[in-house]
Amino acid sequence: MRLTRLFTLAPLFWRISAQDVSVAAVKQAFIDADIPSDLKINFDPSFLLEVILPQSSGHPILVHTGIQLPRNETATPPVFGLFDPFDPANPSINAGQGPFVIAAVDPDAPTPTNTSNAQVRHFLGGDFFPRKLAGSSLSPLLSNTTAALSEWKQPTPTGGNHRYVFLAFNQPVGFNQQQFINATTPIMHFDIATFAQEVGLGNPIAGTFMMVANPDNP
Ligand SMILES: *[C@@H]1O[C@H](CO)[C@@H](O)[C@H](O)[C@H]1NC(C)=O
Ligand SMILES: *[C@@H]1O[C@H](CO)[C@@H](O)[C@H](O)[C@H]1NC(C)=O
Ligand SMILES: *[C@@H]1O[C@H](CO)[C@@H](O)[C@H](O)[C@H]1NC(C)=O
Ligand SMILES: *[C@@H]1O[C@H](CO)[C@@H](O)[C@H](O)[C@H]1NC(C)=O
Repeated sequence: MRLTRLFTLAPLFWRISAQDVSVAAVKQAFIDADIPSDLKINFDPSFLLEVILPQSSGHPILVHTGIQLPRNETATPPVFGLFDPFDPANPSINAGQGPFVIAAVDPDAPTPTNTSNAQVRHFLGGDFFPRKLAGSSLSPLLSNTTAALSEWKQPTPTGGNHRYVFLAFNQPVGFNQQQFINATTPIMHFDIATFAQEVGLGNPIAGTFMMVANPDNP
């Protein structure tokens, strides 16, 4: 079955029990957290986005939708995976074989009740492809072939409990020529829906989110 296969393919998948398994449950969790309305996105995913946070020591953390994490477990740039929950017999995702664009945004900056800095762009990168395995098969884990437009920025919630939303898109032709965002573009006041429209990303094909709070200013 799929989880067994993932486990053999990817030793990173240690906390298998935490993995999202239902697209419908992820969609509902987004609705319950007001994410589609706050981000002004149409979130009707077809695939599951796995976000894996490597740790400086110990097993990596597998984000399941809505997980609450301490900030100190979010320091290292995530590893991403994308797969089709309806096609467990298929060792690759069925979304096409990439490339994909992945974005991570915080709509709760500086706080969930004062979003005047939102969205903060915590990651934006393209050219994510399924990793090639021995032979011609593909892993659901993704690797990227070009530098991120915005490198991973560790969550730094100043106050309250923030949503950190990860979205995957099919990458449109010409994405690498886009002129809207580069490494020097301020990360505040980003708008993923506007960016998606500007570069033709369409609707997200998958997503997940985690919660990170500031224990000193809850
Ligand atoms: C993070 O901080 C908590 C205490 O707040 C501690 O228990 C945990 O070991 C820390 N984890 C890491 C990866 O530093
Ligand atoms: C909202 O946050 C901004 C940025 O930190 C701050 O300048 C502003 O005073 C805050 N507004 C309110 C009503 O607290
Ligand atoms: C892939 O993305 C990471 C961030 O997750 C970035 O640090 C790295 O430079 C990118 N890889 C390549 C080959 O540019
Ligand atoms: C980054 O984008 C800004 C604003 O669009 C532009 O002025 C700047 O030249 C760009 N930098 C690079 C390295 O492309």
